[in-house]
Amino acid sequence: MSRYDHMTYRRCGRSGIRLPFISLGLWNNFGGVDVYEDGREMVLHAFDRGITHFDLANNYGPPPGSAEETFGRIMATDLKAYRDELIISSKAGYLMWPGPYGEWGSRKYLIASADQSLKRMGLDYVDIFYSHRPDPDTPLEETMGALDYIVRSGRALYVGLSNYSAAKTRQAVKILRELGTPCLIHQPKYSMFERWVEGGLLDLVEEEGVGCIPFSPLAQGMLTDKYLDGIPHDSRAGKSTGFLRPDELTSSRLESIRSLHGVAQRRGQKLAQMALAWVLRQSGVTSALIGASKIAHIDDALGALDAGEFSAAELEEIEAILAGE
Ligand SMILES: NC(=O)c1ccc[n+]([C@@H]2O[C@H](COP(=O)([O-])OP(=O)(O)OC[C@H]3O[C@@H](n4cnc5c(N)ncnc54)[C@H](OP(=O)(O)O)[C@@H]3O)[C@@H](O)[C@H]2O)c1
Repeated sequence: MSRYDHMTYRRCGRSGIRLPFISLGLWNNFGGVDVYEDGREMVLHAFDRGITHFDLANNYGPPPGSAEETFGRIMATDLKAYRDELIISSKAGYLMWPGPYGEWGSRKYLIASADQSLKRMGLDYVDIFYSHRPDPDTPLEETMGALDYIVRSGRALYVGLSNYSAAKTRQAVKILRELGTPCLIHQPKYSMFERWVEGGLLDLVEEEGVGCIPFSPLAQGMLTDKYLDGIPHDSRAGKSTGFLRPDELTSSRLESIRSLHGVAQRRGQKLAQMALAWVLRQSGVTSALIGASKIAHIDDALGALDAGEFSAAELEEIEAILAGE
């Protein structure tokens, strides 16, 4: 059976690219502190199931840079022959090296960081290069000009924006279009617990023909059955290197998680699957960008759409639960 037989690919805005409805990010669990073989198995399993898109950033690890090194190793040993079947993204914006040129949105930083990322991954180019966050102190023209240059110089095929507000996105998309390097995609944080994109960004990207790939659609694991009975020691909230703070699991949040779990059970699916189906139901959303620490997480995600569409009553019930947050 071919890896492409059972995957649904959705068009990314009004571009020529289609992305799998589930993409895999390497922010957690693929760093130098993690077990290389576990990460390798997850990436290869994901690809075997039709996940063609892998998302990285300069600073993913820990230590920063090590997730790109992990991915580079997997590319060299297993995926070299498949380069043209993969969409690999990286980003720059957060702190990566000391001094005034190691973060934010200057041309100096973005181009140097793109070169470092390519070297760590052993790639000639990435498919998508993102500005990871807006820089309040650098002219948007400079940041967008650097993205345009990164494409024109062959370091990337497309560009994207991450964590940009709707208003900044509108300006950035306009500048990029004028430069001749249209914005392919926006990567915002979006889940049942983080809904800022519903205040204008989702409409804007659709209107502008830009794709959208929500990150942390499971709220870093909170929107799963993982924390129903406490914090497992090997979970993101339980590990010293994890990015989910245990204090985010407040009692009211746990109550919402339990109620949402109940809705998911009645729909005949896991909470993780329902949370993914919920972001994917938005017409502006191209792909849900998940993280995983186990192969089973990837398989769960791939079954997210099997329970079918939400009824109006289910959506209302979810709204009522989230309103009590
Ligand atoms: N642009 C940005 O600023 C930005 C910021 C953050 C993330 N991202 C991107 O988005 C990607 C995904 O972010 P994320 O890792 O926070 O996404 P997420 O999908 O919300 O959380 C992933 C975590 O949820 C848990 N999980 C996943 N499936 C599960 C299941 N079926 N059952 C139980 N637990 C499950 C695992 O936690 P355990 O590890 O505890 O098992 C997993 O590591 C990142 O890798 C990165 O590429 C981008």
